[in-house]
Amino acid sequence: MNIQENFSLKKLNTFAIDVKARFFIEITGLLQLQKVLQLSAYPKRFIISGGSNMLLINDIDALVMHINLKGISIAEEDENQVVLKIMAGENWHDLVLWALKQGWGGLENLSLIPGNTGTAPIQNIGAYGVELKDVFVSCEAMHIETLELVEFSKADCQFGYRDSIFKNEAKGKYIITSVKLRLTKKNHRLLTHYGTIETWLKDNDIVHPTINNISEAVIAIRRSKLPDPKELGNCGSFFKNPVVSKNKFETFHKKHPNAPYYEMEDDTFKIPAGWLIEQCGFKGKRFGDAGVHEKQALVLVNYGNAKGSEILELAEKIQSEVKAKYKIKIEPEVNIIK
Ligand code: EPU
Repeated sequence: MNIQENFSLKKLNTFAIDVKARFFIEITGLLQLQKVLQLSAYPKRFIISGGSNMLLINDIDALVMHINLKGISIAEEDENQVVLKIMAGENWHDLVLWALKQGWGGLENLSLIPGNTGTAPIQNIGAYGVELKDVFVSCEAMHIETLELVEFSKADCQFGYRDSIFKNEAKGKYIITSVKLRLTKKNHRLLTHYGTIETWLKDNDIVHPTINNISEAVIAIRRSKLPDPKELGNCGSFFKNPVVSKNKFETFHKKHPNAPYYEMEDDTFKIPAGWLIEQCGFKGKRFGDAGVHEKQALVLVNYGNAKGSEILELAEKIQSEVKAKYKIKIEPEVNIIK
C-alpha cells in the first residue's frame, strides 16, 4: 500500500492552499478502498476528491484519501434516453464534454463546473437554471464503518439548493463511489431562459440553439466572470445566496428597490450574495494574497500564497459587514476544514 507522509495538498484543492497531509493515499479501486478503511493504524481519515469546494485551514493530521475511481459505463439505454454510471473520480467537465460528443443532453448548462462527479451530489451542483438533481437517478456510497455499498435514490438524497443528505444526516459517514445520471438522446430539453444565456445566443445570431450551443454559451459566460482555478486559486461561489422570508424580503426591497432577487416556489426570496458583497465595497479588494474577485464578488481568490486562515478571515469580515448593513446572514457554500 503506497501511503505517503507529509504530502502537500496544494495541487489537490482548487483554492491552492499549501497544507500538508500527515498521511496520504490515492484510491483507485473499490476493494482497495475497503482495505484502506480497515487499516487500524490510521483511525483518522479525511476524504478529498476534486478539492473544489473546500477551504483547508490547517495541516491534516489524518490519512487523506484521494478518491480517484475512474470509469463510465452505460447502465440502461433505450432509443430516447441513456442512464450512465460514472465513477466518483471522473472530472465533471470532462464528463459534460464527453456526453455532448455522444449527442446526449442534460448536462450542457452545467458546463465548466470544477470538481469531480462523485462530489456533485453532496452540494447538488447547479448553474444557469439546472441542478444536478434534474438528471440524477441514484448514487452508490461506501459506509465508512460497515464497508457496505449503499444505494441512495434521488428521494434518499433529499436535494435542496446547494444541499443534500450528505451535508446533513449522512455527513462524514459515506464515501460516494459512483453516480447514475439520466441523459436524453433526442428531444433535448433546452434551458435557455437564464438571462445571460439568451443574450449570448442572440449576440451570436443563434436562433435554434443545440445542446452544444448552450454549453458554448455557458462556457463563455463562466469564463467572462469566474476565475480559472488553474490560474487563480478559488472555489467558485464562496457563499450561498441567502433565502429570506417574504416579510423580511419586503422590508429589504422597500429600502433597496434596485437589488436583484429571485422569487422561489415556496414564497421565499433569494437575494444574490454577490450584489450584497459588492454593495459593501469588497469587489476587487485584496488583503495580502486573499481577495474578492474583480468580476464576481461571490468568489474569494488566492493570489498565490494565502493561508486558509487569511481567506477565512476575509470571509468573516464580509459576513459581518453584510450583516451590519443589510441585517442578512450569508453562509459559506464552501466547506471550511479546521
Ligand atoms: N451580482 C452583483 N455583483 C457581483 C455578482 C453578482 O451585483 O459581484 C448580481 C448580478 O448582477 C446578478 C445577480 O447578482 O443580478 C446574480 O449573479 P449571477 O447570475 O452571476 O449568479 P450568482 O447568484 O452570483 C449563482 C451560483 C453560481 C452559478 C450562477 C449561475 C450560487 C451560490 N452561485 O451565482 O454557482 O454559476 O448562479 O447560475 O448559487 C458556484 O456555486 O460555485 C457557482 C459559481
